[in-house]
Amino acid sequence: MSLSDPSPLLDSHSRVHTSLRVSVTDRCNIRCFYCMPDENVRFRPREEILTFEEITRFVRVVSQMGVRRLRLTGGEPLVRSELPRLVRMLAELPLIEDLALTTNGILLADLAAELCSAGLTRLNISLDTLDEVTFQKISRREGLHRVLAGIEAAQRAGFAQIRLNAIAIQGLTEDEVIPLARFARDRGLELRFIEYMPLDAEKHWQSTDVLDGAAIRQILEDEFGPLLPVDPPHSSQPATDFVFADGGGRIGLIQPVSQPFCEACDRLRLTAEGQVRNCLFSSAEWDARAMLRNGGTDDELADLVRDCVRAKAAAHGINTVQFIRPERAMYQIGG
Ligand code: 5AD
Ligand code: SF4
Repeated sequence: MSLSDPSPLLDSHSRVHTSLRVSVTDRCNIRCFYCMPDENVRFRPREEILTFEEITRFVRVVSQMGVRRLRLTGGEPLVRSELPRLVRMLAELPLIEDLALTTNGILLADLAAELCSAGLTRLNISLDTLDEVTFQKISRREGLHRVLAGIEAAQRAGFAQIRLNAIAIQGLTEDEVIPLARFARDRGLELRFIEYMPLDAEKHWQSTDVLDGAAIRQILEDEFGPLLPVDPPHSSQPATDFVFADGGGRIGLIQPVSQPFCEACDRLRLTAEGQVRNCLFSSAEWDARAMLRNGGTDDELADLVRDCVRAKAAAHGINTVQFIRPERAMYQIGG
C-alpha cells in the first residue's frame, strides 16, 4: 500500500522530506574534540553496520517516496572500504538527483578522482584551521597536510561543487576566520562556518562556547568589507549565504543554535547501523536494519519511514530549558 501511496513524505508540521543523510560508518581516522572521545572509542561491530546492498535498497525505497538528494556521512565516510562502489550503486538509482559527501579530507587525495567518476557530484570538506598545531589540538591527530592535499586533488578531479566546512567555537575559531576565508577565496571555494552544537561525545558543550554567525560576519566584514546576502540554491538549506562585495567568493553561515532553521528542514537520517532518525537531536529511532534483515517488504520499510517522519518534532529547542541532549554524539549519527 505504502509505496503506491503517491503522497509526499510529510510530517505533522507540513514539512516535505526530500533529502536523506546516510552514515556509512561510525569510525573515524581523527578525533575532533567537538565530536568524538579521544581514547577508547567503542565502535559498532562490523556485522551491525548496513551492507552496501542494504543501504541501496533503503535509498531506493525512500527515493520512491520523494527523496531526491543524498549525502553520505560518517564518522568519516572514506574509511569505509570500497566506498566508490557504494557511490556507483547509489548514482545508478534513477530518482536520485544529487549525491554528495562530507569528509574530513584525510583520505581524499587517493580517492577524489575515483569518487568523482563513480558519480559523486558534490563534496564538503571539513577544514577548521590552516595551522598544523591547531589542527592537532582540535583533532588530536596529525594530518592537516593530507587534508590540504585532499582539497587539491578534489579540485583537480572536477566535482560540480566543493565546499569547505569550518566549526565555529568561541576561543578557537576567531583567529581562523580570516585565514580560512583568504584560503577559500584564493581557490574559488565556498566556505561555511557551522555553529558548535551539543553533539560532542565528551558532553562539554556549553551555550557560551558557540561563536555565533553574527560574530563571524563581523570579523569577515571588518577585514573584507560588506557581505551581501544571496538566495540559497534550495530554500530548505540551512546556510545563510553571502558574497563579498568585491566579488571574491561566497561564504555561508550555518546557525543551528543562534538562528534555528527547523521550520524549513527537509532531512531524514539513516545511521550506519540502520536506524532512521528524523532529527540530529531526536531521542527516537526507527529500526530499518531489523526490517531489512528479517524479510520486511518494501512497503513495510516505507511505512516505517512514514511513521518516523510523522513523529518529527517541530524544532530541536537547543535554546530552551526543556532541551535534552541526544544520547548519541555526532560521529554516531552522521553530520
Ligand atoms: N557541532 C557542529 N558541527 C559539528 N561537526 C561535528 N561535530 C559537530 C558539533 N558538535 C561537523 C564537523 C564536520 C561535519 C561532519 O560535522 O565540523 O564538518
Ligand atoms: Fe571524525 Fe568528522 Fe567527528 Fe572529526 S567531526 S572526529 S572528522 S567524524
